[in-house]
Amino acid sequence: MTRTAFVLGATGQIGHAAITALLADGWDVTAASRGRSANTIPDGARPITVDRSDPAALDAAVGTGYDVLVDTIAFTAAHGRELRAFAGRVGSAVVISTGAVYTDTDGNALGDDPLFPAAIPETQPTSDPTLGGYGPDKVALENELLAAGSELPTTLLRAGTIHGRNSAIPREWYFVKRALDRRPVRILAHPDAVFHPVAAVNLAELIRLAAHRPGSRVLNAGDPTPPTAAEIGTAIGAAMNHLPEEIHLDGPPIGNIGDSPWSLPGSFVMDMGKAARELGYEPVTDYAGALPDTIAWLTEVTAGRDWREVLPGTKLLGGADMFDYDAEDAWLAERR
Ligand SMILES: NC(=O)c1ccc[n+]([C@@H]2O[C@H](COP(=O)([O-])OP(=O)(O)OC[C@H]3O[C@@H](n4cnc5c(N)ncnc54)[C@H](OP(=O)(O)O)[C@@H]3O)[C@@H](O)[C@H]2O)c1
Repeated sequence: MTRTAFVLGATGQIGHAAITALLADGWDVTAASRGRSANTIPDGARPITVDRSDPAALDAAVGTGYDVLVDTIAFTAAHGRELRAFAGRVGSAVVISTGAVYTDTDGNALGDDPLFPAAIPETQPTSDPTLGGYGPDKVALENELLAAGSELPTTLLRAGTIHGRNSAIPREWYFVKRALDRRPVRILAHPDAVFHPVAAVNLAELIRLAAHRPGSRVLNAGDPTPPTAAEIGTAIGAAMNHLPEEIHLDGPPIGNIGDSPWSLPGSFVMDMGKAARELGYEPVTDYAGALPDTIAWLTEVTAGRDWREVLPGTKLLGGADMFDYDAEDAWLAERR
């Protein structure tokens, strides 16, 4: 019998990739979003319009139920409780969490310059859920869903920095725009830092595998052999035939100078062993493999348009401050 999946966040970067993977695997997919995004839903899925902030509407949309519910846009314990209410109607769930839940031995999470000396296992401590905010709220969501146990077996995928077409937070733009602008230099702080990326198609593969093997668990979600900040810059430059002089700062960014989205003071790498052991996860691509399509997308959507409007998520990365070329040029002039 054909298995059925309900994907919430269907036109998003993750939703689109997950639906594509599930359809190719023979699932019957219902694709739910508010219908506001201009992004498409893969052919073969059944689009429906629902706003998850209206629990009654979500309940009606889930109706008599599905084999699996994939939620890409759950952020809070309240969202977890809404999903738990589907126990009995939904066989299992796959829910997107984030690597931002992790804390180092001093209790610092991403954003507070944590230091993780080795690849982070799923047993690493996480933020205090009562603190509120993005990471703690995701911990609260995880706790709620893990407490459901076998009532609603839920795989929580702690995603790294997601990349690919239609990315909500397109970090690659930092280097793609520099290549399009033919900047003569590429200045980078913390060039050897690794901020674990995950291609949307790898995340989709994890979703597909988790849908096959329901369980109550958390799993890291990352690419194989994650590249350094400098390697990402070089790979994007090479793909766009842009080979500027590279200047690596010894310390932190100088104001906006060298402050790439990957320039963390310490690396953030997640251990992917558990996903391999529990789900048999084999990445379908690596960072370099996913890059050409991301570059093509960023180049297409920004051509002749204001990038701030077509890539609103770049605000979270610093917006125009990411491209403070005047500051770069002044610093270079002083240095030379
Ligand atoms: N970006 C990263 O690097 C990163 C890293 C770790 C984890 N994450 C996690 O990734 C998830 C975001 O996924 P994404 O990047 O695929 O998001 P996205 O590209 O922004 O897409 C969001 C999707 O959800 C739909 N949506 C938004 N609000 C909705 C609502 N109230 N009701 C129903 N549908 C709604 C949107 O379509 P409509 O607007 O048309 O409804 C769209 O289909 C989050 O859980 C985030 O914590 C992201």
